[in-house]
Amino acid sequence: MVGWILKKILGSKNQRELKRLMPIVHRTNEFDEQFKSLSDEALRAKTAIWKEELAQIPELEDQWKRLDEILPEAFAVVKNAARRLKDRQDTFTVCDQPMKWDMVHFDVQLLGGVVLHRGRIAEMATGEGKTLVATLPLYLNALTGRGVHLVTVNDYLARRDAEWMGRLYDFLGLTVGCIQHDQEPDFRREQYAMDITYGTNSEFGFDYLRDNGMATTREQQVQRGYYYAIVDEVDSILIDEARTPLIISGPATISTHQYDKWKPLIEQLVRKQNMLCNRLASEALEKFEQGDVETGGRLMFKVKLGQPRNKQLLRMMEDPDKRRAVDKAELSFYQDTRKEELFALKEELFFTIDEKSNESDLSEQGRNFLNPDDPNAFVLPDLINEFTEIDLDPSLSQEEKDKRKAERQQHCDAQAERIHNISQLLRAYCLFEKDVQYVIEENKVVIVDEFTGRKMPGRRWSDGLHQAVEAKEGVQIDRETQTLATITIQNYFRLYQKLAGMTGTAETEAAEFHDIYKLDVNVIPTNRPVARKDHNDRIYKTRREKYSAVINEIRDCHTREQPVLVGTVSVEASELLSRMLKREKIPHNVLNAKFHMQEAEIVSRAGQPGTVTISTNMAGRGTDIKLGASVADRGGLFVIGTERHEARRIDRQLRGRCARQGDPGSSRFYVSFEDDLMRNFGAADRMTRIMERFGLEEGQELEHRWLNKSVETAQKRVEQRNYLIRKRTLDFDDVMNMQREVVYTYRNETIESEEPRTLIYEVIDEAVPAKVQEYLTAERDEEPNYTGFLNWVNTTFPLGLTKEKAQFETRSVDENAQFLIGKIKDAYERKSSHEEPSAVKSLERYIILNAIDRLWQEHLYAMDALREGVYLRGYAQKDPLIEYKTEAYDMFVELMANIKNEVLHNLFRSTSNLQAFENFLATLPQFLMREHAPTAPTANAPARGRQLQPVGAMAAVGGDGDGAGEMTLDLPIRRSMPKVGRNEPCPCGSGKKYKNCCGRVA
Ligand SMILES: Nc1ncnc2c1ncn2[C@@H]1O[C@H](COP(=O)(O)OP(=O)(O)OP(=O)(O)O)[C@@H](O)[C@H]1O
Ligand SMILES: [Mg+2]
Repeated sequence: MVGWILKKILGSKNQRELKRLMPIVHRTNEFDEQFKSLSDEALRAKTAIWKEELAQIPELEDQWKRLDEILPEAFAVVKNAARRLKDRQDTFTVCDQPMKWDMVHFDVQLLGGVVLHRGRIAEMATGEGKTLVATLPLYLNALTGRGVHLVTVNDYLARRDAEWMGRLYDFLGLTVGCIQHDQEPDFRREQYAMDITYGTNSEFGFDYLRDNGMATTREQQVQRGYYYAIVDEVDSILIDEARTPLIISGPATISTHQYDKWKPLIEQLVRKQNMLCNRLASEALEKFEQGDVETGGRLMFKVKLGQPRNKQLLRMMEDPDKRRAVDKAELSFYQDTRKEELFALKEELFFTIDEKSNESDLSEQGRNFLNPDDPNAFVLPDLINEFTEIDLDPSLSQEEKDKRKAERQQHCDAQAERIHNISQLLRAYCLFEKDVQYVIEENKVVIVDEFTGRKMPGRRWSDGLHQAVEAKEGVQIDRETQTLATITIQNYFRLYQKLAGMTGTAETEAAEFHDIYKLDVNVIPTNRPVARKDHNDRIYKTRREKYSAVINEIRDCHTREQPVLVGTVSVEASELLSRMLKREKIPHNVLNAKFHMQEAEIVSRAGQPGTVTISTNMAGRGTDIKLGASVADRGGLFVIGTERHEARRIDRQLRGRCARQGDPGSSRFYVSFEDDLMRNFGAADRMTRIMERFGLEEGQELEHRWLNKSVETAQKRVEQRNYLIRKRTLDFDDVMNMQREVVYTYRNETIESEEPRTLIYEVIDEAVPAKVQEYLTAERDEEPNYTGFLNWVNTTFPLGLTKEKAQFETRSVDENAQFLIGKIKDAYERKSSHEEPSAVKSLERYIILNAIDRLWQEHLYAMDALREGVYLRGYAQKDPLIEYKTEAYDMFVELMANIKNEVLHNLFRSTSNLQAFENFLATLPQFLMREHAPTAPTANAPARGRQLQPVGAMAAVGGDGDGAGEMTLDLPIRRSMPKVGRNEPCPCGSGKKYKNCCGRVA
């Protein structure tokens, strides 16, 4: 009831909003009428005139105001151009297939265009022509000359839409680019330079990370800002994809994994457990036969804990009595009073594994098996207790206490690492299946996206899971990787000044769009009524029965010559069906992660009479299947779903492949009790009752609209859970996001700065006073640490200060800071006066970028560790997120301070030109040149090649008057310029060859 009222109100709000936009649509159509009399050239000329006009307006906000004014006229230009293309009837190619333009924007499409221009989500049913809708706001917003982006879910759609709509943009005099997975940076830059750029979310996101986290000059960056993006299939991208952040990683400097070492043992352990579970299952069967249902149920529950995908278990669950016995056992064990019994039950297994939460846990037996000498090697020590004990021990000095704590901590870390490795391996063996969650390709584990069935090359499961799976499959275990740059999809899209989205299925997620992205949804009516017939689900006891029913259905369609599209949730299922069809001699095409090269071609044929197409959810979004001649008379395309997906939206997308643009079409889902969704989230009890009531026989099916409801309830439950996971990811990433923004802004400022010297001086102005404070602000009775301070000064800057010259005691803390800043800047001016100005600028930028990059990466590494670590703290009843936030903040403050200190440290240790550096040294009277190089280059600054060797490290001699000996100082020169070949362009940016520029003197 409440839902109904809400819908009424919401519905009418939406209608009111749309009604308000209708006059714009009418005005557009009036302009369109007028433009009919224009010549092609005159129509096209409007683009250039507007572009010029908008280029005169400097502020984006003001440009937008102007866009609102010209909107009806601009939309009319696009619509008018579309009509001219339709009249021409010439052929062009899209994804290597011939194509004719046959579209002129409908009124509902104009409406959708306005919604998109206003930065909202337009929900338009599948097949309503959203690709064409997007051309209106893209054209309009591209007139600003700032570059607008259209984001798609996969490379195929990016290319299809860029080439297809490109025809229209081209006619209008706008350029269009397309980003694809395997393009080189130069090519990408060209694509971004176009007026309109199509590409996938991950390509846009990775380019952002590379531009802001890795590029060191403006020339290396490929993107040019984030003004306006339309996200196609916005629910998929902003909601489903948002669970896995984009990560660019490089090999870690140290590798700690022990997957190789544990693999053989874990393999044995899993085998032992499987044998045990098989035995238990047989015992259970016996008990059931003897009529001892309770013991049987208990035993089966145990199997479920230890091997959730046990074959016998799955079979038994088909029997309503047995199923109920298991459910009853499960329910009773999860009562609070039986906690201990549950624990005892788990201890009878080697380990337990939870399919729903993806977790695994070793039992005593399991631990004993893995390490008979020290089963405690797999138990996490109770650190908090141990620390308290140490603290309370009166016989220990503070120093000893700290030492012991550090030891315990180290011990705990090692244990944690080991436990982690083992639990990841257990997950890899028990929960991850080849050809379902991943495929093996060129000796690599490639993740298959669970939502679309597409391969995701380059992505890796985090937290060592990927390596565990690599170990399991016996392929090369890639080195542990370290995050170099990372961002969640959500945060990438928050960068845009204006964001809009479109999809056929947004409504169920409207609240999330609003909360997280501030995006409101407008539902646009369809152009013609949807003629699709969605049949009730057919439900079977087993997968086998389900698949044979599917095959029968396909055979019927095939005989009738009605085309069928069969959607599966995994590569494995698509191959199984394909084998079954081969046996039946039914010709068919398979579209899955393994063959996505032929995608466009297979799709183009899928609507022809009699065609059978098997596809993973790959074809589930955006794919447009055109009906062949006379197919409409045969009922249009028939879509069969072979399993319900976790999210309702995905199922609706699959159904939406048929009955597009008012065509006829129908769909049906086939479900079995063995499907993962039904097993894990199904209303098990209810199903069991239903099965009993109907007395389901072998091969028999259930079909009723109530059943659709219980399936949907299960789906809603998963959706809810996934929402929480996404929210959590985002909560954590929000912390990182703020930090990333600060660091990336600083980085970009450095890259773009014409006068990097000012940035260097800012660092000096900030970091020096902080250091002075640190050394010279004395605690109550203590003396300021003048000696330590002088030492720091002299090891950081070649000032050769002595106690006498410095006279720190005579000044206040602030005065000392000012005194020192003056000296440093003087010395720095002198140093750089010997170098070529442009080279100095590059060098200054380089010093800052180097410091940022090195420390930021270390920071990311530490943040990864922190994130893992806070979960352990969860045991101590603290909220991991709050802990994470506080510590992350402290770490960030430290990071920023460290960056500045590193810049200071390298300021006088870097040179663009060794000769100049020597000249500079020669000007320092207090420095003596030593002939022999006394020290080896320091570990983190390996000197390569002759020109980098310090020509005798400098020694500062500060005779300190009273003859208390010499103070010497070695300043190894750090290679802060990239290594360049003699014939390569000089890194100073002069455009000359290195040997003729900075390299000449060296
Ligand atoms: N104005 C139009 N006139 C005629 N045909 C049109 C028009 N607009 C779209 N179409 C056709 O409708 C079909 C579906 O278009 P499109 O793939 O853009 O739909 P969609 O809304 O993006 O669907 P999905 O939600 O599945 O991605 C295409 O074959 C297209 O040619
Ligand atoms: Mg589409």
